[in-house]
Amino acid sequence: LTGTITIPVVVNVIYKTAAQNISQAQIQSQIDVLNKDFSATNTDVSLTPTPFAPLVSNFELKFVLAGVVRKQSSKTSWGTADAMKSSSSGGIDATSPTTNLNIWVCNIGGGILGYAQFPGGAPATDGVVISPTYFGNTGSVTAPFDKGRTATHEIGHWLNLRHIWGDSNCGNDLVADTPTQQTSNFGCPAFPHVTCSNGANGDLFMNYMDYVNDACMFMFTAGQKTRTRAIFQAGGARASFNP
Ligand code: ARG
Ligand code: ZN
Ligand code: CA
Repeated sequence: LTGTITIPVVVNVIYKTAAQNISQAQIQSQIDVLNKDFSATNTDVSLTPTPFAPLVSNFELKFVLAGVVRKQSSKTSWGTADAMKSSSSGGIDATSPTTNLNIWVCNIGGGILGYAQFPGGAPATDGVVISPTYFGNTGSVTAPFDKGRTATHEIGHWLNLRHIWGDSNCGNDLVADTPTQQTSNFGCPAFPHVTCSNGANGDLFMNYMDYVNDACMFMFTAGQKTRTRAIFQAGGARASFNP
């Protein structure tokens, strides 16, 4: 499997307030961030600590805005049980989810920035959900999650990536080149942050699959790319995106 894979993106905006009805510019800003982050052409990739620089990877994915669907709703918050993904529960049905990445932008509530469905789930609920104040890098976005990295992280899950700490104490993210680390990092840690006897360089906390601030996450690795490419191969869960 070689070359760039194009991912058409449909953005479904469900709003109660005018601020939640995010602008076209805010939507496009998110697409632009995705294209930079997934190709390692984001300017801050240069902040990667020198020992980790050889791991930095271009995923060879191109995100193209394929459509925007908008809907007004009286609902204040949507939670994480997929109600926003179905018109029968007041949301918006996914548009051709086997050939489009559907993103729902709506207020999740509970301090949750976003959530994602891993490959292999039901097509009707496939995609990612992001709250409007964390989507894109302009308009209604709120620091310290104002650089569009919530979608980068959630689309990482949609591409089959696990959290870098493996969701358990010194857990396994199923990627060989990411060091084992004790747990999630928050804020903006100082390099090196050593845990789990992970050597002089410590945690790869600047990876998009950690929980640090948007300004402090800026790279994926070659091992993560290998894991994501597998789902686009013949027989893979997202082979329909690679006709
Ligand atoms: N699923 C995580 C949450 O909702 C997303 C974390 C994204 N991190 C970020 N810096 N944008 O908490
Ligand atoms: Zn996550
Ligand atoms: Ca690992």
